[in-house]
Parts: sequence; C-alpha cells; structure tokens
Amino acid sequence: MTFDEIIDYRGQHSQKWDMMEPSFGVSPDDGLAMWVADMDFRPPEAMIRRVQEVASKGIFTYFGDSAEYNRSIQWWMKTRHGWDVDEKAIFTTHGIVNAVSMCLEAFSKPGDGVVIFTPVYHAFARVVRANDRQLVECPLALRDGVYAMDFDAWGAMMTGNEKIAILCSPHNPGGRVWTREELQGIADFAKRHDLILISDEIHHDLVFPGQKHITMPLVDPSISDRLIVLTATSKTFNVAGMHCGNAIIHDEKLRAAFAKRLGQLSISPNSMSMHMTPALYSPEGAEWVDACNAYLEANHHVFLDGINAIPGLRMMPMQSTYLAWVDFAGTGMTQDEYSARVARDAKIAASPGPVFGKGGESCLRFNIAMPRVQIEDAVGRMQRAFGDLQ
Ligand SMILES: Cc1ncc(COP(=O)(O)O)c(C=O)c1O
Repeated sequence: MTFDEIIDYRGQHSQKWDMMEPSFGVSPDDGLAMWVADMDFRPPEAMIRRVQEVASKGIFTYFGDSAEYNRSIQWWMKTRHGWDVDEKAIFTTHGIVNAVSMCLEAFSKPGDGVVIFTPVYHAFARVVRANDRQLVECPLALRDGVYAMDFDAWGAMMTGNEKIAILCSPHNPGGRVWTREELQGIADFAKRHDLILISDEIHHDLVFPGQKHITMPLVDPSISDRLIVLTATSKTFNVAGMHCGNAIIHDEKLRAAFAKRLGQLSISPNSMSMHMTPALYSPEGAEWVDACNAYLEANHHVFLDGINAIPGLRMMPMQSTYLAWVDFAGTGMTQDEYSARVARDAKIAASPGPVFGKGGESCLRFNIAMPRVQIEDAVGRMQRAFGDLQ
C-alpha cells in the first residue's frame, strides 16, 4: 500500500481530472485537480480483487441476500465507532446526497425550513432548494481560527417553520471533528426546535491520528426518534463512483416513512457495491484507512505550513477529511482576482468558497488527498502565484 504512487487519472472519466478544463480552464496536462472530493489513491486491494472476481465470473444478476453486506456494516460500526447497528436500521441508497434528498421528501413538505450550518458541503443547499424546501443558513462562528457552534445566534433565527437540520460531522469544509459537547449542543438544538436531525457522517473514518469522531447516536440516545445517520464506504476508501450509501435509522416510525419513499422511487443498490462493501469493511480495509489517515495528516502539515507562509492567506488547521479550507480575505483581492491567480497562474482547480454558503465568500477549498510530491508542487505553485505578497 503506497499513497506516493502517481496514478494518471486523465482520460479515465474522472470528473476531477477530466472536467477541470471545462470548469476552471485548467488543463490536466500541466494543472493539478484539487476540487472534487475524490482521493488520488488506489483503493484497498481487497476490494479490487473482489470486483475482479465477480467481473471475471461474468455474474451481473439481480443481487440477492444482503446478509454479508449488512454484517460488514455492523462489524465496521461496532469495531471502528463503538456503535451497535440493528440490521433492520440499514437502508441502502444511491449515495449520500440521494439519501439526504429522500430524507427531505420523507420527513418534510414543500415550504418547510431546512437548517444547514454554513459553510458546509454545497450539495445540501442544492437538494434543499431542488425539493422546494426553504433553506435556512445558520453560520458557524469562527473561534481561534476554527469553526465553532453558535447556538444562541441560531436559536434567534428559528421561526417555527423549520422541520429538519442537516449536520456534517466531521465537517466539510472546515475539517473539524466536533466534540461531544458540541454534538450534545446540536442534539439539544434539534430537541428544542423539534427538528429531525440528519447527521451526515460520510467523513467519519477520515480522522487524523489522535482524533476521535463520536457518532451522533452515542452522544444522546434520547434523540433516536428524530435521528438519521448517513454513512458510506465512498469517501473512506475512495470509491465514490460506486454511488452506494447507507441511511441508518433506528426509530420505527422514521423507518417506515423512509422505507415508503424508497419503495415509491424503487431504489435498490447495484450489485457491485454490495460485493465491494464487505471487502472494504474488513480488517484489510481498516489497515488501509489507518495508513491513509496518517498520510493525509502529513499532507495537511505540508499544505498548512506552505499556505500559511503566504501573507494574506490563512488555511484552517484540520483534524479530519482531506479538504483544506483557505481564506483569501487577507489579500484584499476580489474573489475573481484570487481565483484567477489560483486557476491561471498556479494552474490549480480548487472549489469556490461561495457555493458552501454563508461564511465561504472569501475562501477556496483544496483537496489534499494526493501523493505528497504533488502537494509540495501545489505549495510551490501557490507561493509563486502570490509571490508579490511575500
Ligand atoms: C458531507 C458530504 N456528504 C455527501 C457527499 C457526497 O456523497 P455521495 O457522492 O454519496 O452522494 C460528500 C462529498 O464530498 C460530502 O462531503
């Protein structure tokens, strides 16, 4: 297992590499793709072997018997997160954004308010709007240079029309691993304002050594009747193109409403992801992700030191994920100016901050899940592109 290997993703239908020229004007020939949240790492061999075995037998039938799949999820959640998952609580979706969207349909109606804590993963706002729900952006506070909860301010914003809150835990794009106290605050907020809580924990495995993610059900069992937890192998193991996610719902009433929506849409998982998941949620998968986290943490230090050495740029220190959040406010440049320097001069495709909602206006998000030499290269490009500020 090496994360140093440079894999050529160009011309392979990788959105991150093959769509960066049309999206940012950055050529994949000499540019770096640091936007879409895929890693440039080869997934665990156990999964590749499993998919090859299935493909070589030529068996692509309708999939039957999800016992092994469910057992692997239960094993992973217990051994990695100390969480007992009931088999009946597991619903498999077409990825996590699909699960969020189905939750909106199952647990609210058009016009209802849906709270998100911004800046946050941009697809939340997209699906809230697409489902004709009212988007309620509650901005995170900045304390000591990192994001923090702001319950008093958020409480004052509630009108009674809000029905759902979506939490991103750990946090994309800030890289925070929320503490037990912060998560308890979210649970209390949900209870106080009578909100269904969707806890999107897709990044739960990608926490740096020494950090501890606490899954929401372990924070406060009393919110089980209003809680949906979303998890997936996709970010953990770099297999997002398989579009397989899980909504884990322990409450029977919530389960019935979600099952109804799944049934109406007739959604069922593709067979490859059913084969792939047990190979990933395995001791070999665990070893891979531990090594990956150590590698990502080292990448984070290289990028943090390099970016923060540029006057006017401020990268938020991370505890998790591989998504680095850089604030350009200190440069005094407009969004167009600093974005052009990053795309045109540094030849780096990075995600624009405003799509993450309130608080993201002066930021760009950089994906640092790449071989170390490319991270060093990215730092050099950024230092040259903003060299006049030195
Ligand atoms: C918090 C969060 N949720 C969901 C997703 C995407 O999930 P999916 O591709 O399974 O829809 C991402 C991707 O970056 C994410 O960061």
